[in-house]
Amino acid sequence: MDTRPWNDPATDFRLAVEGAGSAVLLAEDAGALAGAVMVGFDGHRGWVYYLGVNPARQRLGHGRTLMAAAEQWLSARQCPKIMLMVRHDNAATQAFYAALGYDAQAVETLGKRLDGR
Ligand SMILES: CC(C)(COP(=O)(O)OP(=O)(O)OC[C@H]1O[C@@H](n2cnc3c(N)ncnc32)[C@H](O)[C@@H]1OP(=O)(O)O)[C@@H](O)C(=O)NCCC(=O)NCCS
Repeated sequence: MDTRPWNDPATDFRLAVEGAGSAVLLAEDAGALAGAVMVGFDGHRGWVYYLGVNPARQRLGHGRTLMAAAEQWLSARQCPKIMLMVRHDNAATQAFYAALGYDAQAVETLGKRLDGR
């Protein structure tokens, strides 16, 4: 999975696994890792990051299964709504999320770096 140079997936993974309000869920296929997704609940909304399926194992339902697992993980914690961000140039992934019933929200995503990068 391509990641942006300013992201640090290894550190993000460790923090998500160690955190009480977050997890990394894995999909297995024939004894091998097929995909993963990071999920967290901040008390108001549930957020999903880094959904990725091995390119050799895509279009087999693993992405759908991982998102269903993330939804269940959040629902079990009384989280009322799941949120995620998709880049505007990632049309294939937007089609994937549309197939799963996700739609665009009438909000602008704002951000500010706190780590000086
Ligand atoms: C997006 C991604 C996770 C989807 O995983 P996947 O296991 O291939 O998806 P699924 O097999 O569960 O697909 C479920 C449905 O989504 C839709 N879909 C999936 N990939 C699609 C694509 N490339 N174009 C259009 N629709 C797509 C289809 O309706 C599909 O059902 P079908 O295969 O019966 O037609 C995978 O393509 C991926 O890892 N992409 C690269 C990383 C990425 O962009 N991650 C998201 C960051 S926000």
